[in-house]
Amino acid sequence: MDKLIIQGGVPLSGEIRVSGAKNAALPLMCAALLTREQLTLSNVPHLRDVSTMLRLLAQIGVEVSLDDRLGLSLKAERLLDPVAPYEMVKTMRASILVLGPLLARRGEARVSLPGGCAIGLRPVDLHIKGLEALGAEISVEQGYIAARAKRLKGTRIFMDMVTVTGTENLMMAACLAEGTTVLENAAREPEVVDLARCLSAMGARIQGAGSDVITIEGVAELRGASHRIMSDRIETGTFLAAAAASGGEITLNGAEAGILDAVLEKLREAGADIRAGNGTLSLVMRRRPSGVSVRTAPYPAFPTDMQAQLMALDVIAEGTSVINETVFENRFMHALEMRRLGADIEISGSTAVVRGVGRLQGATVMATDLRASASLVIAGLVAEGETTIERIYHLDRGYECIEEKLAQLGARIRRVH
Ligand code: EPU
Repeated sequence: MDKLIIQGGVPLSGEIRVSGAKNAALPLMCAALLTREQLTLSNVPHLRDVSTMLRLLAQIGVEVSLDDRLGLSLKAERLLDPVAPYEMVKTMRASILVLGPLLARRGEARVSLPGGCAIGLRPVDLHIKGLEALGAEISVEQGYIAARAKRLKGTRIFMDMVTVTGTENLMMAACLAEGTTVLENAAREPEVVDLARCLSAMGARIQGAGSDVITIEGVAELRGASHRIMSDRIETGTFLAAAAASGGEITLNGAEAGILDAVLEKLREAGADIRAGNGTLSLVMRRRPSGVSVRTAPYPAFPTDMQAQLMALDVIAEGTSVINETVFENRFMHALEMRRLGADIEISGSTAVVRGVGRLQGATVMATDLRASASLVIAGLVAEGETTIERIYHLDRGYECIEEKLAQLGARIRRVH
């Protein structure tokens, strides 16, 4: 299994390009199931999760073609097999995103019920309840969610928790429902807005995406479209946090500052000087960071997907900080690994108290999920000596060419097989 080996202690410096967003790409690919015409996506990141989704869609009957310029064409003329099998759902929970579109267009779907996860329980009850409210009959049979509906019927749906993929699933399903659907307490994440933009280009009638009430007026059919995937705000934040922790100076091209306010605010509080230009973000960090406290919550608050990376900054910062994780119940696995590098972190339930230590020392650590791996990379970049990160297949799910990009910024990093 691949490992990453990092010789720490080099401040990052230079320029790189941010990739297309994983968490926008996955639902956008599923939107292709809603029409028999071709959907063309550009700025597609080359990631393991994207490949997994492509395999799943191909199995369902979608014709897939890739060009050499990060373009992807998907044509779901016929849906042969409306099933997301266990083997795929267990490696990628976002497979659940085929449920709404398949049900809406084909009238039936079978999706393996996602099991436990490294970061929390992550049930999908709100996806199921929402689709039932739209008129679907749903049962769980042999570990599969079996859903059937003649034609979905629009209705008002209140989601009692903010769920990103839940909102996306229901928004996609509602596009082909009869009548109007109102999603209340909807997720406001920029990835939901990107999906709504693409669906609108396909002929959907959606209002309010980006607010907590989304109204969808169902149409009989959607058509093909072309859409450019938004840039990855979490990849952007990860590189900024890495530069800040290492005392570096970097510029990110293709980055969107407006969707990263909560993260930029915290990095500034830590002492970074950040400037936004036209599609670029630059960060300069000239001193040891100050510890910053955060509380994760749905957008526009501080994203749970940046919590681990910010913790990596806090562990070497000056002072004590408190990190409160409110989105997932078990998202501190990285803290235990960071302790192996010398970090001083105390966990109590959903709160971590981090006492900044001046330096970390390289060791072998294990990645447990995607963002945990990213935080260990940051810790490795600032640790003295050599850090080996095992199980980096987690990292490949969501960071395109991470070691090439870091090497371009001067990091001493290599992958061994
Ligand atoms: N929840 C329920 N019931 C549901 C759905 C969600 O109780 O039916 C709970 C979850 O257990 C969790 C909270 O609601 O405690 C929020 O979960 P959400 O549904 O928003 O998460 P998700 O849609 O499964 C997406 C991202 C995650 C990101 C979260 C939160 C994608 C493909 N995944 O997951 O990304 O952490 O939103 O922002 O968009 C990552 O990229 O590393 C990642 C995990």
